[in-house]
Amino acid sequence: MQNVLIINSSPNIGFSKLTQLTALFAEQLATDFNITLRDLGTNPPQHLDQVALSGFVTPADQHSDNQKAALAVSNELIAELQAADVLIIGSAMHNHSITSGLKAYFDQVARAGITFEYGVNGPEGLLTGKQAYVITTSGGDYSLDFMKKMDFQTPYLRHILAFIGINEVEFIPSQGSAMGPEVAARNHAVAEARIKAIGSTLSNNVAA
Ligand SMILES: Cc1cc2nc3c(=O)[nH]c(=O)nc-3n(C[C@H](O)[C@H](O)[C@H](O)COP(=O)(O)O)c2cc1C
Repeated sequence: MQNVLIINSSPNIGFSKLTQLTALFAEQLATDFNITLRDLGTNPPQHLDQVALSGFVTPADQHSDNQKAALAVSNELIAELQAADVLIIGSAMHNHSITSGLKAYFDQVARAGITFEYGVNGPEGLLTGKQAYVITTSGGDYSLDFMKKMDFQTPYLRHILAFIGINEVEFIPSQGSAMGPEVAARNHAVAEARIKAIGSTLSNNVAA
């Protein structure tokens, strides 16, 4: 069975529409895939500190006990990501970008020599061969021309995923949660329909 890693990053526990959408994805894929859920809303990764940073640039066989302890979370998150065939990220917009929990996650998994390296042509991502789906939520609608320049969520996610080697990415937006119940419900329903369609395609591909 293929592995699906679902990363939920909304800290709005119990009220999050984004969490409903990542849960729908999990439900669609539960029969045909091994699913791992990484909930950054309830369990945000720690911020990098000096010990972790020094561990990043020290060969593993020379790590002190403190560096080993500081890198345990990073190693665990990277192993989970390396094992995933399909990655699903739920990203809520906070202050025009991603949540601090999701940023802390990328800080833990972007590791030189492990998930990316620099070659003669610049950065090369090492987590290749994965397919990703990114569900985004926001209060406003950033597909509108005058809003696009304030969206640092989608461009950042596209960039950081490519940076670690994940180039095959589909974005599933559910925007406008603050634009009235009708707009919010309509956009949520469009995202739900897309998730169901992707779920059946992925399951059919496995069965074929
Ligand atoms: C701290 C915070 C900052 C936010 N910043 C923005 C923002 O910059 N732009 C925007 O459109 N919505 C913003 N929102 C609204 C959320 O993106 C929106 O409510 C989204 O639906 C959250 O999904 P969730 O409830 O599933 O976490 C913000 C919400 C919070 C709590």
